[in-house]
Amino acid sequence: MESGVFIAIEGIDGCGKTTQSKKLVKWLEKKQIKAVYTKEPTDGVIGRILKKMVRRENVDPRIEALLFAADRLEHLKNTVLPLLEKGYVVVSDRYVYSSLAYQSVTTGDPQWVREINKYAVKPDLAILLDVEPNIGLSRIKRRKTKFEKEKFLEEVREKYLEMVRNGELKVIDASKNVDEVAEELVRLVGSFLKTTVQ
Ligand code: TMP
Repeated sequence: MESGVFIAIEGIDGCGKTTQSKKLVKWLEKKQIKAVYTKEPTDGVIGRILKKMVRRENVDPRIEALLFAADRLEHLKNTVLPLLEKGYVVVSDRYVYSSLAYQSVTTGDPQWVREINKYAVKPDLAILLDVEPNIGLSRIKRRKTKFEKEKFLEEVREKYLEMVRNGELKVIDASKNVDEVAEELVRLVGSFLKTTVQ
């Protein structure tokens, strides 16, 4: 059985995760490495319910946390694990660290958020694209969701940075321009792949 590499790209809204994750996949493909972009929340059954719920204002944050966790397990089972078995590098635009950051703030119960996410397998590499909320928010042009408020994102960012200090995530300064961030990302991923994949 082949085994691929699971990479999670994380960060607050407007940090450039989606652009950078897709660029990373293109770079890997150019190097003749089988790679796939995927994202959370998903467009699966639970992901679709979740997106509807998130749009509402007064949903219990614990219900949202459970839905994000359930969507994640479905994502793993239906998408991530089968691709890893086929030997792909799977680049996930958000993963469990999004819940550990956002839902720890919304529920105020980080331990419980970890508990309900305990079956989410650890990725091989997790990277935070770190940006200050005011910069992130200035990059978002569409109408903002309830998660996209500066004060809230300050707290979410702090949770992410805590996980960087714990060694759970690597960090890249994402306040730089798109090409500079992309360069740093491929450098980090490239050297990781060199040391882990023979
Ligand atoms: P997106 O903009 O990256 O598609 O994510 C949608 C929103 O969902 C974003 O504001 C962050 C939030 N989110 C969580 O709060 N917890 C999670 O576990 C995930 C995956 C996303």
